[in-house]
Amino acid sequence: MSDQLDPDELKQFGFAVWSYKMGEQVSLLIHLGDRLGLYKQMHDAGPLTTSELASATGLNERLVREWLLGQASAKLVDRHDDGRFELNPIQAAFLADEDDSLSFAAGAFRGGTEAAHLDALAESFRTGVGVTYEQQGTAAAAGLARMTGPWSRLALTSVILPALDGVVEKLEAGATVVDVGCGAGVTVATIAAAYPNSRCIGYDPSSIAVGMAQERAAEAGLDNATFVEASAEDLADELSADLVICFDCLHDMPFPDRAAAAIRAAMADDGTWLIKDIRSTGEFEKDRRNPLLALFYGFSVASCLQSAMSEPGGMALGTLGLHPERAKNLVSEAGFGSFVQHDFDDAANLYYEVRIA
Ligand SMILES: C[S@@+](CC[C@H](N)C(=O)[O-])C[C@H]1O[C@@H](n2cnc3c(N)ncnc32)[C@H](O)[C@@H]1O
Repeated sequence: MSDQLDPDELKQFGFAVWSYKMGEQVSLLIHLGDRLGLYKQMHDAGPLTTSELASATGLNERLVREWLLGQASAKLVDRHDDGRFELNPIQAAFLADEDDSLSFAAGAFRGGTEAAHLDALAESFRTGVGVTYEQQGTAAAAGLARMTGPWSRLALTSVILPALDGVVEKLEAGATVVDVGCGAGVTVATIAAAYPNSRCIGYDPSSIAVGMAQERAAEAGLDNATFVEASAEDLADELSADLVICFDCLHDMPFPDRAAAAIRAAMADDGTWLIKDIRSTGEFEKDRRNPLLALFYGFSVASCLQSAMSEPGGMALGTLGLHPERAKNLVSEAGFGSFVQHDFDDAANLYYEVRIA
């Protein structure tokens, strides 16, 4: 059969297919490097021999050597002519520097998908009912928080909130902030720490995420941060929130329209709703200009669309479903009169500042 096919095309397509398998294996190596502290040990350490890295991390030299050769093959670390290995500053920004780098990505590499989750994904294709974030488990919630964390920890108070009309002044004076779909609570913890006069309430239907968020706030000694295990639709009307936040979660909700209506009811008349959602145009051919587009569809099938289809009859938006036009329509149908789009050079997301008038 393959005799009749163009050998060059076969070769090229084979390379593409096996590149994805290589991605799976390299993802596992990244997970191990993050989990075992190998990248952090290499950060700012200069060139190291395999024995130096193994002894500094207390790990087996032969396995560390194989890992380093794999890392160098994937161009994730540099290998010098003398056989030593080094993590250069750009590599460190993505792989080691979780505290200070907006680009930090290694935390997103979970080392695979649990068998039970894979079974549930396959089953969702048969039943049409998706898996909730709660059902995706602890590793998923923790990985997500580390993936989205850098922008919340490092850009929210320095870049994003100051760009919104009058919000920082209110937060400094003492405001009510509600983070809807708060996940493991990084955003709530960041705002609660930066604005001690404000009270911050995180809402999320996942008990796993809420548990992690409560732990994070307690560890940081934040007594102005609380969490409620509930969906956006169940927001308390009497909150009178000055700032509502929805970060990377409206497209995950089965009923973002109902969420928007509940947020409208829970907001002060002069409040602000800050939405962050995935960059997309609403047109597949235009979105294709994004070289990482397949990554986002992967997130969708495995996670976002699953959550969005976890209740029947919903909007089933998925990762790329809340493009700016749809976001504008969604909020205007819920009674919001003002919609301003912000672009903070976040490669994955756009931001919307929404007000009632
Ligand atoms: C991709 S995570 C984002 C979490 C967090 N905002 C962040 O930036 O890391 C999406 C979150 O939306 C939550 N979610 C799903 N459906 C929801 C709903 N109906 N109301 C509120 N949150 C919901 C999930 O439980 C999950 O924690």
